[in-house]
Amino acid sequence: MAVKVERLAGDRAGIEQAAAALRAGELVAFPTETVYGLGADATSAAAVANVFRAKGRPRDNPLIVHVAGAAAARALGVVWTEAAAVLAQHFWPGPLTLVVRTTPAIRVPAAVRGGLDTVAVRCPDHPLAAKLLAAAAIPVAAPSANRSGRPSPTTADAVADALGGDSAAGRVWLVDGGAARIGVESTVVDVSGPHPVLLRPGGLGRAAIEQWVGPLADPAPGGPARSPGMRYRHYAPERPLVLLALPPDEAVERLKAWPRGQTGLLAETHVVQTLGWPAAVDLGDTADSAAARLFAGLVRLDRWPGLDRLAAVWNNQEGVGWAVANRLERAAAEVVRS
Ligand code: TXA
Ligand code: MG
Repeated sequence: MAVKVERLAGDRAGIEQAAAALRAGELVAFPTETVYGLGADATSAAAVANVFRAKGRPRDNPLIVHVAGAAAARALGVVWTEAAAVLAQHFWPGPLTLVVRTTPAIRVPAAVRGGLDTVAVRCPDHPLAAKLLAAAAIPVAAPSANRSGRPSPTTADAVADALGGDSAAGRVWLVDGGAARIGVESTVVDVSGPHPVLLRPGGLGRAAIEQWVGPLADPAPGGPARSPGMRYRHYAPERPLVLLALPPDEAVERLKAWPRGQTGLLAETHVVQTLGWPAAVDLGDTADSAAARLFAGLVRLDRWPGLDRLAAVWNNQEGVGWAVANRLERAAAEVVRS
């Protein structure tokens, strides 16, 4: 459902207006260091219902509650485990979301949590997000500001493009904070039980987390989905994407046999240069640059005229390369590994 997008500058007046809108139960899209979020008062079931509606998001896929810090997280009425305390101390503010158990005093309605007895909390590392949370003085439930199933927006223009329309169906305020620094969403770790469980790779690398809490477990296969969001197809472009999870030189050799005029390419600089295809998105030379360019690149290639399929080359699992690989796997119709 398209909504009317009202833009706000990231200055003091803009932040105050956005904070007032949040307190009044309205929707505010805002920048974080990972991607833009679509925020609403996390204590209001009515406000949060509008988030699900604007995104077309399944009701059983819970939202992340954004807070100003660990004290604000604890004040939601949750069980703050030792692992939660350690990870928040080392990585907040930052691209790490912690899933913790609720107590009977929980201030976040069940609609935010997809009916679960846990809640996801995160303290974003972005000056405008921090100012907005401080000015609003409420916890803010915010999924990524894309339509459900589509790539996450990393600029204000991408948010307007994803959600906007001339419909009278609703309104979203949009705080412009330029391009998101990291470009992929936060890492989600469940710290509600005896062993921390990795629910979603993201902006914070696995090794950094394991240094403080030991090996992260992966969700039990076949068990109940620990992170409902991982059940759904995500980030998918309209044209079929083939991911070549191969050493770049090998991928180049394979791709030489493909129809270069009809395939859009998403790859590191040297691969893009070697192939010289007309429709290509250059992810740069590092995992950091790839993360920052990934979602906008997918959207751009998907709109490129005259293509019938897309190919991505990626096999780097280091640091944020881990999250880039995960997002491409989830966007892909097919993954080539050998
Ligand atoms: O970087 C980010 O995390 C961005 C920015 C805006 O903060 N937000 C974001 O939200 O990516 P969203 O809604 O697109 O993804 C939230 C993920 C989903 O996979 C969801 O299923 C999971 O977190 N999640 C939320 N609450 C959960 C819970 N109680 N238990 C397990 N997983 C949960
Ligand atoms: Mg999302």
